[in-house]
Amino acid sequence: MRRRAYALVLLLVLSGCAEKPAAKPVFAPGAAGAGDPYFPKYGNGGYDVAGYDLNLRYEPGTNRLDGTATITATATQDLSRFNLDLSGLAASAVTVDGAAATSAAEGAELVITPAAGLVRGRPFTVVVTYGGTPGPIENETLGTSGWLRSGKNGAIALGQPESASTWFPVNDHPADKATFTLAMSVPDGVEVLSNGVPGEHETAGGRTTWRWTEDSPMASYLSTVVIGQYRITSGTHKGRPMVTAIPESLPADGPAAKSLARTGEITDFLETQFGPYPFQANGGVVVDEDQIRYALETQSRPVYGNTFFLSGENTGVVAHELAHQWFGDSVALTRWQDIWLNEGFATYAEWLWSEHIGEDTAQELFDLRYKAFDWSETPGDPTPQRLFGDAVYQRGGMTVHALRKTMGDEAFFTLVKDWTATHRDGNVTTAQFITAASAAAGKPLDSFFEAWLNGTTRPAI
Ligand code: TRP
Ligand code: ZN
Repeated sequence: MRRRAYALVLLLVLSGCAEKPAAKPVFAPGAAGAGDPYFPKYGNGGYDVAGYDLNLRYEPGTNRLDGTATITATATQDLSRFNLDLSGLAASAVTVDGAAATSAAEGAELVITPAAGLVRGRPFTVVVTYGGTPGPIENETLGTSGWLRSGKNGAIALGQPESASTWFPVNDHPADKATFTLAMSVPDGVEVLSNGVPGEHETAGGRTTWRWTEDSPMASYLSTVVIGQYRITSGTHKGRPMVTAIPESLPADGPAAKSLARTGEITDFLETQFGPYPFQANGGVVVDEDQIRYALETQSRPVYGNTFFLSGENTGVVAHELAHQWFGDSVALTRWQDIWLNEGFATYAEWLWSEHIGEDTAQELFDLRYKAFDWSETPGDPTPQRLFGDAVYQRGGMTVHALRKTMGDEAFFTLVKDWTATHRDGNVTTAQFITAASAAAGKPLDSFFEAWLNGTTRPAI
């Protein structure tokens, strides 16, 4: 009886397979957000971007930005339409695989409906012709980010956790990393800095086109463009292009320039701790802009507000931003809640560097904080409002040091190097890190991480 029933089912299944044609795709809209638990509206669903190729023209005098974004992507579901994030700029034409598509602006979303549905798994190319006068976006608690006019000939675009949509159409969430190419035309005499390897300049009719290529997949918030009057130093370090830039308003041999000049040396030190530097280019840009009182680990070329260098050379901030090239940039977040994986390691790198140059040791820096800290905030769930709070940075750094002490140096540095190698150019979660650390330690570390990341009282050491 039973056997016969199975046989019947098997027969039906087999005959079904043989006779039914492949199911017709049911095309549905991609989600308007990537579903990040902290920022559900950031990014979009239904596709995966492989590359952004921007061809832009900027007029500093009027803050007018125009051009095209060519986006190569793959549908991850059968798509009837999909969104890109674009804030404050308007699309005038959109094509998908060369055919005109309709587009509509809905707030900071550009809703694109291709002429035909996009089948899951199939690559497609979107070309967005767009323009306008870009400006920043506001986050109530995290402040302004994105495009800012700066100086008489310039502008600066950067920001975390989102900023890219203020200057190009983008799937603005770190889970969707993509390569990035920029060609930007500006009036002769204006400099343009961005991510990655510099390309050839082209000068014609009073304008110069600058080219930058980031060949390693990049989270969108790690893109940057800095336009204005800069002194650029170009060279190589260990065979990679090394490009640093200091605003013309600052002395060529002042503390900002001196700090950035140590980028290669600091990278070399971090390689001894974390493994090979993950990108094809290196460098940094200092900006002299009142509104930028922070630094950001923009990929392969961090941006530093000059406020870091007001009281002299500051290699700590350089070590911090360079450490992010491994932790945050190459090994990127899947969701913003896990931000301690970026900031905890970058803070810890500052401690390692401090010890390396004969200043306070990592242990001393740990002890100082461990003695007097408000343990009520947790790095494991810092809340969106406190994404960049002390719990994330300082308790995050303490967590890394406590892990090292728990595992021993050899196992710890092996773990760190394996982690950066295994997840190079990828995305990770805290859960994956706990699994990797436990395997490397040869014992479960769940309760260790529970105490350090989620406990609200001082963890025992
Ligand atoms: N991630 C940056 C760092 O630690 C700091 C930062 C937080 C930031 N929020 C930002 C930088 C917003 C620019 C914009 O180096
Ligand atoms: Zn940081």
